[in-house]
Amino acid sequence: MAAVKSRELALAGGAPAVTMSAPRWPVTGKADEKRMAEVVRSGNWSWLGVHERAFCEEYARFIGGKYCVCLANGTVTIQCALQAVGVVPGDEVIVPGMTWVATAQAALDVGANVVLADIDPETLCIDPNALEKAVTRRTRAIIPVHLYGCMCDMDAIMKIAAKHKLKVVEDVAHQQGSRWRNKGAGAIGDAGSYSFQQSKILTSGEGGAVICNDRSIYETIFALKQVGWKPKDAGKSWFDNLEPGNRYGHNYRITEMQCVLLRGGLSRLAGQNRRREDFANAFAHGLKEIGGPLRAVRRDPRVTGQAYYAMTLAYDPGRAGGLARGDYLAALKAEGCSFGGIYWPVYASPLLNLFDSTSPIPFRDPKRVKEFRSMKLPNVERAFRETAVTLSHTHMLGSRAYLKQILAAVRKVNDNLKKVKDICEARRKAAG
Ligand SMILES: Cc1ncc(COP(=O)(O)O)c(C=O)c1O
Repeated sequence: MAAVKSRELALAGGAPAVTMSAPRWPVTGKADEKRMAEVVRSGNWSWLGVHERAFCEEYARFIGGKYCVCLANGTVTIQCALQAVGVVPGDEVIVPGMTWVATAQAALDVGANVVLADIDPETLCIDPNALEKAVTRRTRAIIPVHLYGCMCDMDAIMKIAAKHKLKVVEDVAHQQGSRWRNKGAGAIGDAGSYSFQQSKILTSGEGGAVICNDRSIYETIFALKQVGWKPKDAGKSWFDNLEPGNRYGHNYRITEMQCVLLRGGLSRLAGQNRRREDFANAFAHGLKEIGGPLRAVRRDPRVTGQAYYAMTLAYDPGRAGGLARGDYLAALKAEGCSFGGIYWPVYASPLLNLFDSTSPIPFRDPKRVKEFRSMKLPNVERAFRETAVTLSHTHMLGSRAYLKQILAAVRKVNDNLKKVKDICEARRKAAG
């Protein structure tokens, strides 16, 4: 379908530039449905079944790690990984100030004190300089989060970790399949944590996994999710190959139904990641040609494969006559394309209710616990309030015609920045 050519802003009653829809997410196939029906009939719905075992092997191969353990979600994966690399209550764990709140909560939940570090304004990932400044005698681990559509600078992070003898747990909830110098995201540090929640690029509705290369980290994570049991012999079927261990474990298991969906998703993931990369290249190129306040962020040449939870974009209000990002995105939304902002800063998240009686904090020494609310990290603040824009991965599986329509919308809004500003201001005034 050709892009609809209307010069009038949709915000002012013109025809929207985007008439096509983003492809549906998640994607499933006939083979997944067949396998799912077989599992349903089999009655083997959980407890380390054939699909869980097969998925772990397939996923470890895909990422390029030695071991894979599946868990219930991408938060307990971080908890278990931190415990497995040796984080104990009272240790400090460095987390970027910009990530989904669960990254920090996972560390708090294992008794660690979270230290938040500022981000690189271009990639929105943790800034290695800020990270190194945050290291103290108590620091035990770092959680680099490969956020939206950029990887962390893993060369710098691994160097800092080696220098200060710190453990690295990569949070790869957003980027199943990214590669840094041909190494899979999540297989570079001591452990990699993945979320398979509904919106993620590999999903089973809920779910998670940890990848690692160290046998003892693997066994600890396995025991922590499997009520303390441990595998006697990983070469044999786990189902009847368990013995009690000495770990304080939980039930963080995944089901066979989830693993069927994961195996189907994984069979499509490399192709989808390639399509999203193509989209990102073409979109970045298109934005550059158009010019104006919106651009794709620079790609680090050391990233040899970029998986996208979302494309990371940068908005410069200075190139839009002072038009605020929110108004710019509202104009694009009216044109039929929904760009997003980013997460709340961790320290300002209304979900981080540290002193509620159900949080672990009241049971610790409150003097040692940091109240984050008064914090302000300059790069996080600017990205959150003014400059960061994201385009969800679901749009990135769209056709070239769809991409053209989105670019046409951007061009139309860019051609009418003053008008957008006037309309938005008038509406605010009218609303009081
Ligand atoms: C960066 C990041 N880390 C961790 C998580 C937690 O994953 P889950 O929702 O599967 O617990 C998420 C989920 O959105 C996330 O985006």
